[in-house]
Amino acid sequence: MKKSKLIFLVTLLVSCFSAKAVEYIPITTNNTCLVLKVNDKNRLEQTYFGKKVKDMGEMKTVDQETFASYSTFGTNHVFEAALRAIQADGNTSTELGYVSSSVKKIDGNITQTTIELKDEYYDLFVTINYKAYQQEDILEQWVEIKNGQKKSIKLTNFASSDLSFNATEYYVSHFHGDWSNEMNISEQKLTEGIKIVDSKLGVRTNQFTHPSFILSLNQQASETSGEIIGGTLAWPGNFQFCFEVDNSNKLRVISGANPYASEYTLEKNEVFKTPSLLFTYSNEGTGKMTRDFHRWARKYGIKNGNKERSILLNNWEATYFDFDEAKLTRIIDDAAKMGFELFLLDDGWFGNKHPRNADNAGLGDWQTNTKKLPNGIPYLINECKKRNIKFGIWVEPEMVNPDSELYEKHPDWVIAQPHRERVLQRNQLILDLSNPKVQEFVYNTIDNILTENPGIEYVKWDCNRYVFNSGSSYLPADKQSHLFIDYSKNLLEVMNKVSKKYPNVTFMACSGGGGRIDYGSMKHFDEYWISDNNDVLQRITTQWGAQYFFPTIGLASHVSVAPNHITNRSFSLKSRFDIAMAGKLGMDLQPSQMTEKEYEFSKNAIQKYKEIRSTILMGDLYRILSPYKQNRTTFMYVNDNKSEAIVFNFLVRKEIYPTPPTIVLQGLDPNKKYTLKEINKDPDDWSRFSKYEGKTFSGDYLMTVGLHFAMYNEYESLVIQLNETK
Ligand code: DGJ
Repeated sequence: MKKSKLIFLVTLLVSCFSAKAVEYIPITTNNTCLVLKVNDKNRLEQTYFGKKVKDMGEMKTVDQETFASYSTFGTNHVFEAALRAIQADGNTSTELGYVSSSVKKIDGNITQTTIELKDEYYDLFVTINYKAYQQEDILEQWVEIKNGQKKSIKLTNFASSDLSFNATEYYVSHFHGDWSNEMNISEQKLTEGIKIVDSKLGVRTNQFTHPSFILSLNQQASETSGEIIGGTLAWPGNFQFCFEVDNSNKLRVISGANPYASEYTLEKNEVFKTPSLLFTYSNEGTGKMTRDFHRWARKYGIKNGNKERSILLNNWEATYFDFDEAKLTRIIDDAAKMGFELFLLDDGWFGNKHPRNADNAGLGDWQTNTKKLPNGIPYLINECKKRNIKFGIWVEPEMVNPDSELYEKHPDWVIAQPHRERVLQRNQLILDLSNPKVQEFVYNTIDNILTENPGIEYVKWDCNRYVFNSGSSYLPADKQSHLFIDYSKNLLEVMNKVSKKYPNVTFMACSGGGGRIDYGSMKHFDEYWISDNNDVLQRITTQWGAQYFFPTIGLASHVSVAPNHITNRSFSLKSRFDIAMAGKLGMDLQPSQMTEKEYEFSKNAIQKYKEIRSTILMGDLYRILSPYKQNRTTFMYVNDNKSEAIVFNFLVRKEIYPTPPTIVLQGLDPNKKYTLKEINKDPDDWSRFSKYEGKTFSGDYLMTVGLHFAMYNEYESLVIQLNETK
């Protein structure tokens, strides 16, 4: 044998049997960086997540601390695992080895990294995918798990992401509440052991909790400084975030669809695709995190994220189920005269054999009620057209009342366990979306309404209950535990099909208030209804909570009657308008029931909103004073070129001897001059803002010295418009 050939063979043999070279996989955005590493044992590890370093090469010059990445229940992992699979032969362990990785530029802003892993013995393949959104500093991660074995395998844990941290202290903020009291934020210090934030409701899963978390390292979360990781799961189904602080004070965060009661069988060659976790790192507190998510959402997360929204009048609180053609025509007429751009017809327009005159009948029978609306929906569309406003309609396509023709025909279409009571919630049952026939029905419901009534430009898609007894008459006995996953997967498919067919129809995600707001659904929805509660105080905290992750452009907020129907508290029309104008303005009351003064105020406020809505809906949000910390709440929006800002102030408790806080503004251009003016002023009250009215200050002054004015009365509000003065 020639000498050179021998050397080649020896080198080959040595390289085959010696430890593999360490490989680094950096996933970067403009300001952040997640670094994964393939160690000498061919395992994938996380070695860094934080602020981007200028020279990534330096990362390789010294051994960094490492953590298991996408941990498995295997042979050497003693904490919660991202993946637990039972192989076809019954082996309960998984050991993933690195196979390859690749990077693809999707466009100028998105880079996709794909990492292929395979069990060291079994044909179980795992693909971890990351999309890095450069400008917005958002990372998206999802995982595909493929069974290559001849027989089926079972997955009991199937997380989307597994991130680790080493800090002195960890604080987690998450969102909780219930119907009419959504999105309260609560922050806790993590102690040794596990904290789980999850939902097990199956459908309308955000009623009690929300699939978003804020993790603050070393200190409590602050708005303007400190290391923050914000994560939100793009999934309308059950979710779970598991925070585990281990014996050496390291933290592992495992996020994904909830494995609870959801063991999933994968047949040969079947792939389980997890939902995406969207996450970001900020070293400038929660403020930057929010602005990054809002910018990302307007581009990628919410349907038509950069398109102007219509100001609408909704008849729900104005009439509930009690309406007819004449009443609605009157409301449409009033709405158009007041300056509204769309009329939204809510629940109660359908059902004949079982008319929908209350919430106990008709759901599922999507034929216009001929008694209430003898000329059908086209008549109302036409009444709107005549007045140059748009028409929208309410649906709840996934549900059925037992008192309906649909249930008479298909009693087996509902989610229910055999031999158990069919427990009702709001007098209704849930249609079983694991069944393809039901999927088709749900899709056709919306499609038929839209094709049979051309001219509908807005759809409010509601969903008013969650799952109690999760059985499916469609799924086989050994796959009953697929229901939670399959329902959500199929729901997303229906949403996708609908939004593809109707790209220009505006869709609102509603779920008995804010029960379904997640980035899996929001891709197909232009707006979201965060709560049925339009009480000003309640709205302050609910909107505050929702806006941590979800953009103002979708945040529908309505002026409703006083006293409020849910809390019985009374608020001035001005403060009701002010809080609704802080989001996407709408109204739920009848103009005909207003006094002349109220009518004038409303008309002017709507006009004003039209002038400033682009700054509110598409501007950057800065939270200045938190409703959780003091009597005063202040937040502001600044438009892209920093030429306009709108500052909202609310007083939540009476101040007899006011101790006004200094409102130090943020986000302005220090070198620009701004003229200040109060808007939506109550014509019958004196101005708290008179010392600043009409005056001009530099952005520098406003962001350093700030504003200082008293507010006195419980629930009073004050809105300031700042415009650049050249
Ligand atoms: C619950 C929604 O949140 C309300 O706005 C309204 O549409 C009702 N459902 C109608 O039943």
